[in-house]
Amino acid sequence: MRHTKLLQSFHTLIITGASSGIGKSFLEHVVSMRTGLTVFNLSRRIPEGIFTQEGLLNFHHISCDFSHREGTFEALDELLRLLSEQGPSAGRILLINNSGFGSYGSFPAPGISRQLEMLDVNVRAPLLLTERLLPLLHARGGAVVNIASTAAFQPTAHMATYGATKAFLLNWSLALREELRGSGVHVLAVCPGPTTTQFFRNAGMQQAILPESVGQSAAQVVDATFCALAAGRGLVVSGWKNKVTSFLASKLPKVFAARLAARVIAHFRPTGKNTQT
Ligand SMILES: NC(=O)c1ccc[n+]([C@@H]2O[C@H](COP(=O)([O-])OP(=O)(O)OC[C@H]3O[C@@H](n4cnc5c(N)ncnc54)[C@H](OP(=O)(O)O)[C@@H]3O)[C@@H](O)[C@H]2O)c1
Repeated sequence: MRHTKLLQSFHTLIITGASSGIGKSFLEHVVSMRTGLTVFNLSRRIPEGIFTQEGLLNFHHISCDFSHREGTFEALDELLRLLSEQGPSAGRILLINNSGFGSYGSFPAPGISRQLEMLDVNVRAPLLLTERLLPLLHARGGAVVNIASTAAFQPTAHMATYGATKAFLLNWSLALREELRGSGVHVLAVCPGPTTTQFFRNAGMQQAILPESVGQSAAQVVDATFCALAAGRGLVVSGWKNKVTSFLASKLPKVFAARLAARVIAHFRPTGKNTQT
């Protein structure tokens, strides 16, 4: 996995959720490539280990909980301030909207507050970040990468809100791509399938439900993303198994796809019983 030429075409990387999983893998790849990118990360936790690695000289962490609306506005103001004071004054910008989480259970479990937080993190934050950065993106050129999911291709009972947030992000990304066509700002929607990160544990499921043979690694998702970005594509489903299942799901009648997905996702229960925590 290299992508040096692609990464050298950008001067600034703005990423959300680089403290864990897929986001952390994006950051580790950029560090290993020694691209000289100036990097801004927004998440609650500071990415561990990044500061001690050589090659990433200009890294800024902005502490931000996207489920807190006031705090999000303050963090975006801080990002714009840092960009103008400490970021490169020219050069293309890569924005990766990656922060996100899901939860398992029949609606509204684990609680309506958590469901609404999911909307804030998975949907509201990418919209706000993109809106605030759009003038700079127009002026300097660049790309917006939105990490959606294969959950976007069909209704996802037991993870109803999560799947709907990702369907929103996928469709919004593809529409935005058309609106920005010819502007110098490229938009890419990335749809990973099950990936070995903290996602499942955070969603209230056991990590053990995802054997290595089923899930992809975060590094594979990063590789698929950069390949698609270099090829100028608007949508990438990461991994051939995920490509097949998402293609089939998108061809089925929606009602039938919903029933099928409900049966599959039911197996994700940690104990064989529905979790209503
Ligand atoms: N793993 C999968 O199977 C899979 C499949 C398809 C799509 N995805 C998508 O991939 C993206 C990354 O997930 P992952 O698999 O890498 O899971 P992960 O290891 O749990 O990482 C999630 C990241 O999102 C950030 N985040 C969560 N809540 C946040 C909040 N309130 N404010 C700011 N940042 C927040 C976390 O940072 P902090 O905790 O530091 O805030 C963390 O860095 C998500 O959008 C997820 O929906 C994952």
